[in-house]
Amino acid sequence: PETISIQELANRMSERSVDVIKFLMQQGQMMKPGDIIEADLAELIASEFGHTVRRVAESDVEEGIFNVEDNVEKLQSRPPVVTIMGHVDHGKTSLLDAIRKTSVVSGESGGITQHIGAYQVEQDGQKITFIDTPGHAAFTAMRARGAEATDIAVLVVAADDSVMPQTIESINHAKSAGVPIIVAINKIDKPGADASKVRTGLLQHEVFVESMGGEVLDVEVSATKGLNLDKLLEAILLQAELLDLKADPERTAEGSVIEAQLDKGRGPVATVLVQTGTLKIGDIVVAGDEWGRVRALINDKGEQIKEAAPSTPVEVLGMQGTPLAGDRMAVVENEGKAREIADYRQRVAREKQVAKNAGQRGSLEQMMS
Ligand code: GTP
Ligand code: MG
Repeated sequence: PETISIQELANRMSERSVDVIKFLMQQGQMMKPGDIIEADLAELIASEFGHTVRRVAESDVEEGIFNVEDNVEKLQSRPPVVTIMGHVDHGKTSLLDAIRKTSVVSGESGGITQHIGAYQVEQDGQKITFIDTPGHAAFTAMRARGAEATDIAVLVVAADDSVMPQTIESINHAKSAGVPIIVAINKIDKPGADASKVRTGLLQHEVFVESMGGEVLDVEVSATKGLNLDKLLEAILLQAELLDLKADPERTAEGSVIEAQLDKGRGPVATVLVQTGTLKIGDIVVAGDEWGRVRALINDKGEQIKEAAPSTPVEVLGMQGTPLAGDRMAVVENEGKAREIADYRQRVAREKQVAKNAGQRGSLEQMMS
């Protein structure tokens, strides 16, 4: 059943909780601000205090966001979203860097990917969106999120190191997300490189590459020597063609927060992968339990753009708070709706936290007795 604490009810009526408690006392009920009451009682109290009640069920609130369907007649091809995964130091960022021909690796602290970067490149006039993930063991959640927001996983395996723990973990993330894998056997330029060892290593984890009689495309590459990068891109485009990826660019946008941080000068900055629809300046968005009005959109080249089409990674400025990586972002009708959804989600999060703390206290008390 729907419930609310006395304190929360008082807050929402802009009344003092002590007045609510007094009222309840007059009705013969002794309660404290933290006590939880049922919706029916809350409604009664609210009307006694002269408020009109509108119950907001979860389904109502959430429906306000995802009320738009893709228009089948408007569907258009969209670029594939490719996540680069693999064990730490196997060359994910270097590979992406070589593909972009810019220098991301040298800009990172110690050459270790600190966060997910997202970029778009063009091959034969076709766009490909790449998401980089860190290989370090601590970033399991990021790899899982990367796999979920993605169409194709490029599994980078260093030919001098072969299959390692985060290689296996990446395979599992891709498989559980139902995402096809393309294997990039990297560092093929190195003296100790052994591509066939990589292939047999993958075999043990049920990744069957073509030369082993399977269907998984594999390409031997060298990020540093720029070897076979075009072959890798072609394999990606081939795989993408099989997937026949489409989105409706005319509907309101939905996407996924890849990363977000509070920037001193610019305020909250969310890197968002637009997955369907077109995100525009001025759109009112909700992401997780934060909302905002899109003030500026900045593409992966640092340019200001007016709108972002499906599969575009873009920095979104104008959020009121900083959403979390992995949050869904969606455009909503107006500011009122956005606030309502954000408030509702913040309240749910608070209540969950309270319940969790209470649970922990309970178990602590049990431990102590
Ligand atoms: P994390 O993000 O920390 O998981 O690492 P990563 O997979 O992004 O690896 P990164 O691109 O940072 O490369 C790790 C090291 O391998 C760097 O010193 C690169 O110069 C080197 N490296 C990457 N690709 C190649 C390659 O094709 N050949 C050789 N010889 N070295 C490479
Ligand atoms: Mg990296």
